Amino acid sequence: MTPLLVITGASRGIGRAIAERGLERGLAVAAIARSEADLASLAELRPDRVEVIVADVCDQATLAAGVATAVERFGPPTLVVAAAGTLGPIDRPWLLDGAALADALAVTVTGTANLAAATVPAMRDAGQGTFVAISASSASRVFPGWAAYGAAKAGLDAYVRYLAEETADVPGITAFSFVPGLTDTAMQAGLRAVSAEQFPQVDQFRRWHDRGVAKQPALVAEALELALALPHDELHGSIVEADQLLKRR
Ligand SMILES: NC(=O)c1ccc[n+]([C@@H]2O[C@H](COP(=O)([O-])OP(=O)(O)OC[C@H]3O[C@@H](n4cnc5c(N)ncnc54)[C@H](OP(=O)(O)O)[C@@H]3O)[C@@H](O)[C@H]2O)c1
Repeated sequence: MTPLLVITGASRGIGRAIAERGLERGLAVAAIARSEADLASLAELRPDRVEVIVADVCDQATLAAGVATAVERFGPPTLVVAAAGTLGPIDRPWLLDGAALADALAVTVTGTANLAAATVPAMRDAGQGTFVAISASSASRVFPGWAAYGAAKAGLDAYVRYLAEETADVPGITAFSFVPGLTDTAMQAGLRAVSAEQFPQVDQFRRWHDRGVAKQPALVAEALELALALPHDELHGSIVEADQLLKRR
């Protein structure tokens, strides 16, 4: 059986880089996103080792059916990464559109729970596997305008703590949050287009972009590998920061 990486957000940015790194490392990849063409281009790299799953992470049934096909093909997941994310509405906390906020929370928290529902039972049966949720520092630190994003990532971190605690009966399972830090992706490009009324620090983010401060997604994939090499006790239920690992290297 080929070790299987199941990953959301595999169409672009950080998720795509982790998926490509997984392929380079010999893993099979169950690649989940809504953009079919982008997933197809990933599959072209290694058609024998990529299962394309076109799904919205909020659609639990489609996600589960796709993952089940991948598990049938490659065996239980070795590594699961919840990388799908959205900034959601950017605005002051009292101005957030309720429906847009609900969508953002759903992608981040419900989407990750849907991914866990599709993968953790097979990992429990196999007695092993690692579940990583891509979080953000805004879960604990305020960036004015990012209340929706911060609330979603804080909810995600809480979900992961529960997942870790409640899978502790299977010592081969590890679950943790992973914070990439500033990374040059479409999400950051979207952020730079927001007005200063909605996002007071926008000029600073534009300057950082001009100076090339943000990491490339491939470096985040490298940092995740460093994280995965850490002992279970250091990872399980914790929040691991890519920048710390890269500094320590
Ligand atoms: N970039 C940063 O500086 C940074 C910093 C900290 C944390 N993060 C986190 O890193 C993760 C990846 O972000 P990124 O920067 O790589 O952003 P990105 O380039 O915008 O990629 C977002 C990914 O999420 C997928 N996605 C969004 N909504 C989805 C949905 N409803 N169903 C399925 N897939 C969905 C997108 O795929 P489709 O549109 O094809 O569905 C895409 O693959 C996110 O969780 C983000 O919060 C990023």
